Amino acid sequence: MGGGSQQDRRKADATMGEMIFRRSASARVAMIGAGQLARMTHQAAIDLDVDLGVLADSPDDSAVLAGAPWRLGSPNTLADIEAMAANADVVTFDHELIPGEHLAKLEALGHRLNPSPAALALAQDKLKARRVLSARGFPLPEFSPVSSPGEVSEFAEVHGWPVVVKSPSGGYDGRGVHVIENHAQAAALLGGHPAADATWLAEQHVELAAELAILVARTPSGKTAVYPAVQTFQRDGICRYLQIPAELPSATLDEATNVAMSIAEEIGATGILAVEMFVDASGRLLVNELALRPHNSGHITIEACETSQFHQHLRAILDWPLGPTTMRGPAATVNLIGESTGADPSQRLPEALAIPGVHVHLYGKAFRAGRKLGHVTALGRTPGEALGLAQAAAGLLTGS
Ligand SMILES: Nc1ncnc2c1ncn2[C@@H]1O[C@H](COP(=O)(O)OP(=O)(O)OP(=O)(O)O)[C@@H](O)[C@H]1O
Ligand SMILES: [Mg+2]
Repeated sequence: MGGGSQQDRRKADATMGEMIFRRSASARVAMIGAGQLARMTHQAAIDLDVDLGVLADSPDDSAVLAGAPWRLGSPNTLADIEAMAANADVVTFDHELIPGEHLAKLEALGHRLNPSPAALALAQDKLKARRVLSARGFPLPEFSPVSSPGEVSEFAEVHGWPVVVKSPSGGYDGRGVHVIENHAQAAALLGGHPAADATWLAEQHVELAAELAILVARTPSGKTAVYPAVQTFQRDGICRYLQIPAELPSATLDEATNVAMSIAEEIGATGILAVEMFVDASGRLLVNELALRPHNSGHITIEACETSQFHQHLRAILDWPLGPTTMRGPAATVNLIGESTGADPSQRLPEALAIPGVHVHLYGKAFRAGRKLGHVTALGRTPGEALGLAQAAAGLLTGS
């Protein structure tokens, strides 16, 4: 148990033994994980007087530092998850690194989970997602399960080098994604891996013309709302910046929107579903991966859309009416990623705030090179103008 004096205050309002939720709140949501997504969901929860209780690995987790009610515990420990879910109206997730059997147990105990374990499994396991989406006819890069260097080379004989080899689960920010140029590299990766018999996902290396993310909110009763397509820009597997509107042909954007809406229906998504997509050199749309939670690409909705993804996620999982997703104007978001310069954005705020019109979000995370420490959003007359402002502020904050 964590929470200190916050816990004591909350106990005064509690009648059901030791608990962290207020009975008087408009709703009680348990979120597994307490990172920046939980932190920003907590911000939205405050507006609605929803109690968002978070299961935190550490008292230094981003959402705990922001004052969300919390418990200390591990997403790998069923008892910790159960304790968090007790007295919550609904359980939801800040990340997908939770054992599937724990989620099944929780569901069997009668807890309401949004997203459902079955839907979340598609975000937990990229190979499973590929299989399910391919069986339903969604456009995907060519793929195959592989478990030996020889199988990677066989895949390359058909689809060419390089081959993208992914760890089916546990990856984020490009960790777990390997561009393999030849058999020797395949042998180094698969042969040298501790679980040498593990199954990996091999994918055709797509020549990327653009990357998109479509966010769909869906309620348990089937109401949906879709956001304008976000165009994302990655370097070394990490999204550096993103913008709306996406500057791609409207037919591509319409198709992307339709694909994301269909996926939301087919998998019975609840809450926010983010569908990451590729546009290849010939303009063809391919689904990359799914996330069943607020998504990095959706941070732009805080300022740039009528309803932020965090408000919308709460509304969706609680089966409340969804808000309008209309774009307020062209906008761009730059992720603040710890640079090797060692500059900590939290120490450089005033300079960035001196740029008119930029919205700085810091996550309260300790500086580490390569770590997402915050983001900056700006609106402008064009996405390019917005990006210029956001990049200027981000440059000051990270010393890049
Ligand atoms: N098959 C592919 N062909 C070309 N580039 C790819 C391919 N798969 C992934 N990438 C590049 O690597 C990035 C990260 O891949 P992916 O989204 O699968 O990994 P991740 O680490 O799970 O990412 P996230 O941080 O979004 O969870 C993609 O956004 C894309 O830029
Ligand atoms: Mg991705």
